[in-house]
Amino acid sequence: MTPLRLGDTAPDFTAESTFGPLHFHAYLGTSWGILFSHPADFTPVCTTELGTAAKFKEAFDARNVKMVALSVDGLASHKEWIRDIEETQGTEMNFPIIADEDRKVSNLYGMIHPNASDTLTVRSVFIIDPDKKIRLTLTYPASTGRNFEELLRVVDSLQLTAYHKVATPANWNRGERVVVSPAIPTQEARNLFPAGVEEIKPYLRLTPDPGR
Ligand code: BEZ
Repeated sequence: MTPLRLGDTAPDFTAESTFGPLHFHAYLGTSWGILFSHPADFTPVCTTELGTAAKFKEAFDARNVKMVALSVDGLASHKEWIRDIEETQGTEMNFPIIADEDRKVSNLYGMIHPNASDTLTVRSVFIIDPDKKIRLTLTYPASTGRNFEELLRVVDSLQLTAYHKVATPANWNRGERVVVSPAIPTQEARNLFPAGVEEIKPYLRLTPDPGR
């Protein structure tokens, strides 16, 4: 199977989830989406990741992003695990976890990397825009928990650059200066960004965050 790439349409599916049957595209509606996989229920890193993600829900909601998690265990197991997550992480599980026992979704999204494990998913992340296009893919090994601040930061960059002719530099965070798209001549950039453009090199021009 060809791996999913940036710009591909995120495959649609229907799956069991802790919020009931989940029709993926219909569930996302006009929102952005973030779909992320967990190797297995009742594992320590996954437990911290889901608790952390639940605490970030308000921030993702504010950016019109719906979260969906996935693990290859069944619904009964998920529901029991959620009790542990809520108890140990001090949060309510406020978004759906897919029960992908038959690995239908995992296989559709290439979340099982046989040289890592034949049966468990790696830690995949797909960020999907309102047109259902894949805008970010990320793969972490089972032993490394993901950074949800970073996922939020990427969403900020994707949403800003969707509406403004800019790109975001290394380690950028919302409110910091951004890079003017290379295709725009500096004079045109000065008209486009009245807050000012600093030309460091003809190809490296900075302007205040136009989203602020
Ligand atoms: C974890 O989530 O803690 C984990 C899962 C699979 C392998 C190693 C760690």
